[in-house]
Amino acid sequence: MSNPVEEQAPFALSDASVARIDGLIAQYPTKASAVMPCIWVIMDELGHVPPGGVDLLVEKLEITPARVHVILTFYMMFRSEPQAEYTLQICHNISCHIMGARPLIAHLEKKLGIRMGERTPDGKFQLEGAECLGACGHGPCLQLGKHLYEYLTPAKADALLDDLRRGEIPRADTDREGVE
Ligand code: FES
Repeated sequence: MSNPVEEQAPFALSDASVARIDGLIAQYPTKASAVMPCIWVIMDELGHVPPGGVDLLVEKLEITPARVHVILTFYMMFRSEPQAEYTLQICHNISCHIMGARPLIAHLEKKLGIRMGERTPDGKFQLEGAECLGACGHGPCLQLGKHLYEYLTPAKADALLDDLRRGEIPRADTDREGVE
């Protein structure tokens, strides 16, 4: 995950990521249909898709900027702005709500000293609400990038924060890998 930056740095993507994008494009029947996995490649390296990334996708996929922006803004896992080092997306929809999302959110807000939608002053953590993370029977749950943590309690959330402060991403209940 990228470190937070307040100002957008000049766009630069590694040759390896550009090669991944070219490889993905070759696997799809039309260039345009590779847009989501190509977005993931940029996200994997930079943590978000800056304007230069949109330009690259427009050029490589031969699509309009609007097409990229629609996808970037519709799906909550895609980002067009630099993020905190760790963005915790906590589901607050009905099933998770019943299973304790509200006290979990209150605990995280108190522990981090921020409210939902805010970032800690050191840029380390950000809290966000999620409408549903697709794990309704395993709530309350939160998502960190591609990692999903289920059946959370305040104690489990504390352990998660402790690991992240040490720079370790603990083993998730589900890893949403494999976009290629
Ligand atoms: Fe929380 Fe669906 S309601 S994952």
